[in-house]
Amino acid sequence: MTRGAAERADSLRQQLERAGHAYYALDAPEISDAEYDRLFRELQALEEAHPELRSPDSPTQRVGAPVASILPKRPHHRPMLSLANAFTDEELAAWEERNARLVPEVRTASYTAEIKIDGAAVSLTYEDGRFTVGATRGNGLVGEEITANLRAISDVPLGLKGRGWPRAMEVRGEVYMPYAGFTRVNEARERDGEPLFANPRNAAAGGLRQLDPALTRKRRLRMFAFAVEPIEGSLKARTHWEVLDLLHDWGFQVEPHRERFAELAAVQERISGFEAMIPQLPFQADGVVIKVDRLALHGELGVVGGREPRWAIARKFAPEVAITRLDRIEINVGRTGALNPWAKLEPVLISGVTVSSATLHNEELIAQKDIREGDRVEIIRAGEVIPQVVRPVLDGVDPDQRGKPYRMPDKCPKCGTPVERPTDEAMRYCLNVSCPGRVLEGIVHYASRDAMDIRGLGYERVRQLLDAGLIRDVADLYELAPDRLVELDRFAAQSAEQLVSAIDASRARPLSSLLFGLGVRHVGKTVAVLLARRFGTMQALMAAGEEEINAVPGIGPTIAAAAAAFFQEPRNRKLIRRLERSGVNFKEPRAPSAGGALAGKTYVITGTLPTLSRTQATDLIEDAGGRVAGTVSKKTDAVVAGEEAGSKLEKARSLDVEVIDEAELLRRVGRTA
Ligand code: IVH
Repeated sequence: MTRGAAERADSLRQQLERAGHAYYALDAPEISDAEYDRLFRELQALEEAHPELRSPDSPTQRVGAPVASILPKRPHHRPMLSLANAFTDEELAAWEERNARLVPEVRTASYTAEIKIDGAAVSLTYEDGRFTVGATRGNGLVGEEITANLRAISDVPLGLKGRGWPRAMEVRGEVYMPYAGFTRVNEARERDGEPLFANPRNAAAGGLRQLDPALTRKRRLRMFAFAVEPIEGSLKARTHWEVLDLLHDWGFQVEPHRERFAELAAVQERISGFEAMIPQLPFQADGVVIKVDRLALHGELGVVGGREPRWAIARKFAPEVAITRLDRIEINVGRTGALNPWAKLEPVLISGVTVSSATLHNEELIAQKDIREGDRVEIIRAGEVIPQVVRPVLDGVDPDQRGKPYRMPDKCPKCGTPVERPTDEAMRYCLNVSCPGRVLEGIVHYASRDAMDIRGLGYERVRQLLDAGLIRDVADLYELAPDRLVELDRFAAQSAEQLVSAIDASRARPLSSLLFGLGVRHVGKTVAVLLARRFGTMQALMAAGEEEINAVPGIGPTIAAAAAAFFQEPRNRKLIRRLERSGVNFKEPRAPSAGGALAGKTYVITGTLPTLSRTQATDLIEDAGGRVAGTVSKKTDAVVAGEEAGSKLEKARSLDVEVIDEAELLRRVGRTA
């Protein structure tokens, strides 16, 4: 890695941070959106080329998924506040004491308690009972407009039920991702070689800031509502408890474990009950929000420093830790050949879950913390879902009685090939593509959508084919015959035919998909396209040396070294020759494959369409080769507007973007009656 790259990345990060601060916090942008995007992409490309430069505080890592451009700003009608914390019973009592000095009535006031969901705060504007605009919290005063993404969340009512809502209001709530969905999303990301989300909160925040609402929909986010800020008209409620009931009646989800108490002592008694409940919940939560029930007292108590209301507090619980024995350090071999160390533990109960393994990240971390086999270790499972080894517990342990410092194996534990540790990387790799540890992951990846797109070839099928000895690598897929498949369990004649024909169809995929599918380290989707476009054929790429690959714009020395090493490895060369003999396409088409009537077009949908749901309209556009975006910009080709189209229609008009109706959309995609 060059010094220059590190310095450039540092400078880009500083410029982006400064620009972001000016834009959001000071409300005084210093650079244009386009300039921001350019810097952002340069940093992204640098970090992709030098993964060791990536740092968790980089602007590219701020949200779960990279956001290519800034979302439009949206000031909140009233600030979105945060909460003070209390970690003990004493701190909670002191909170009431302080409040009572200002407003003595709080001593006899009732309180509410709701589970504090760990997600992303949002504000939803309703006018005449219809959802019009939605925004993230942002800096509390100004958020980002994410209306289309919020519409893609099923818990967000588009029209309110019942009656009695203020003519205009902001509803506040928390968007979250249940654990089940979190696991599913991370499994998919792992399959696609994308970085995993550390916790459901990041996954939810990332999902909200997608530029394409179709992606938000896929995350299947949920929302609880917990507050109302009237803009016009008033709220017919005297207490927070009544507000929650109203929200529920209007069609919102409200935190189901909420309770009301006559006095703080009663809350205190119930706290341990809430604490015990948290590990059992299907979503991430880190405490209980306690609020003074009577709304009139909220005004009297006021807000500290413009940020924290005195009338509410978060009673937080420390994440649970446990101490257990680390039996062995084991190695998993991933698709890219990375050796991932993990701890096999003596099973222990943490937050209601039996934990028998924990991640150890990489060898440097093991060395730094001096974690050894046989040690007693502290394990934490803080909503983070993947348990972590915090440290060895060495009090009273005779240093001579400990095991030896851990050493990563020099040979792949699955196939015996000597492992490589690239300079400046914390990971060791097995470079043998036929390594059984890599094979399963590798074949599933090869078949995945952005690679060779072989429908019906997921983990279960691949495992079945491997176990039956029908395949050992991806080249074997092209020799599969339907009559051998039907001999297997759960393979009807039809599904066998379908699989073989899906495999057959994959022969025509472009070189870039094949390159991505082969799982060359550091070669993600974008890099695969760069390489395929530059070299045109597999033969040309294989003939190119490290230097020539390094010279491709957008590709740095790390990628070049990894790609060159991959194509030099004799086993990989043999596999590629077999793919060629099976008739797999080795060429990249000149222009990006153009197809349907809307290929290359970006459409935005707004309002309620007469017959199509938003999902149906999105599918039609995407099936015709188009893209559906959440916000209107100069790059939008057309806006499909239905009834009650709001700010997007105005924006389209002001930017002179074409506006069409549903009938015209149907005509364009060839679905007219
Ligand atoms: S009340 C008083 N109620 O916690 C106004 N917040 O740390 C503050 N949160 O930004 C919000 N569940 O995102 C409130 N039942 C609940 C909540 C809740 C989760 C989040 C919210 C807020 C953050 C403050």
